[in-house]
Amino acid sequence: MHIQTRTIHAGYSPQGPSQPVVSAIQPGTIFTHPEKGFDSSNGSYGYARYGNPNRNELETMLANLENGAIAAAFSSGMSAITAVFQVLSPGDHVVVCDDVYHGTRAVLNDIMIRWGLECTYVDVTRSENVADAIRPNTKLVWLETPSNPRMLICDIAKITRLVRAKTPDGAYIHIGVDNTWATPVLTNPLDLGADLVMHSCTKYIGGHSDVLAGAIISRENDTYIDRIRTIQKQTGAVASPFDSWMLVRSLKTLVARMRMHCENAIAVAKFLDSHPKVEAVFYPGLPHSPGHDIAKKQMRDFGGMVSVLFSAEKEQILKEIGSARLFKVATSLGGVESLWEHRQSSEGPRSKTPPNLVRMSVGIEHPDDLIADLQQVLDQL
Ligand SMILES: Cc1ncc(COP(=O)(O)O)c(C=O)c1O
Repeated sequence: MHIQTRTIHAGYSPQGPSQPVVSAIQPGTIFTHPEKGFDSSNGSYGYARYGNPNRNELETMLANLENGAIAAAFSSGMSAITAVFQVLSPGDHVVVCDDVYHGTRAVLNDIMIRWGLECTYVDVTRSENVADAIRPNTKLVWLETPSNPRMLICDIAKITRLVRAKTPDGAYIHIGVDNTWATPVLTNPLDLGADLVMHSCTKYIGGHSDVLAGAIISRENDTYIDRIRTIQKQTGAVASPFDSWMLVRSLKTLVARMRMHCENAIAVAKFLDSHPKVEAVFYPGLPHSPGHDIAKKQMRDFGGMVSVLFSAEKEQILKEIGSARLFKVATSLGGVESLWEHRQSSEGPRSKTPPNLVRMSVGIEHPDDLIADLQQVLDQL
């Protein structure tokens, strides 16, 4: 079935007469187990850190939407990403896209490298760079597309092919993709050969800026995801019953919301692209964008995120973006409301983002109203 149908029907299937159409929230932390003793396997529940019906429903839905075998839902996107790295051992090597989300870079640099992980950042827009960075001890390649905040596009299928060809005999290199910005509506990395998909469900999957959560989905039910699920349960950074229920609810409108985000984002990107106070627009939907051809191949549409370089100084940009009526100055993304932020300020002193870059999360308001709002801000810049 199409993803539009699966977002509505995957996960919960009421049986018997007079069942509620949607599932209930189960907040209980302990479950009775009179016959077998505590057993969290085979779909039975014992203790909420090990499993909960709402989390189970969310994981089933996410695995379905990403065409994966199994998923693990976490309390944030960062706890999900951290679990992926925690599977590895001291001395293992990871290859990571250079324009990675700054929080991912911070976990690698501040925590995992100190614990003995070796890490190489590469420009993954040239697929061969990934293969060239592979060493005998490489265990994981971590990609993000579109990347944050420069909207760079990497070719998941080509990178996968090159990595597989370069993998030493008897070894296996897992390829993980942070699919937060594209969502399963626009890209399915597992179908392109990746092994793991990650989501900050805080963004488009939640869609209303009111849930913090994350997830990993695996193509195979292999030992890597088994370790991730062990880390999830043992460390306890699990998605709560209420948050899981909220996300299942949000997923039902994901396709409709993404359609509107994409329509608005291309309208905003085109408007900005022709404006004299704009130096550059980063949006893979623009035909002259460097990643456009690959994006057309691996995405069903181009997403709701737009980054823009204004022809103005940092101080002036910081002052003027606050004068927008609709675009709220706030970090994060993926909610129904439009946001923008001076990205370098949000990323802090180690940021590599240009000082005149503003990152926009284009919401689902009427596009004419959004463009009128941008027009009045740009008139003052
Ligand atoms: C691409 C990407 N990955 C991961 C994260 C981290 O997710 P969370 O904030 O849910 O921990 C973010 C958050 O902004 C993100 O944009």
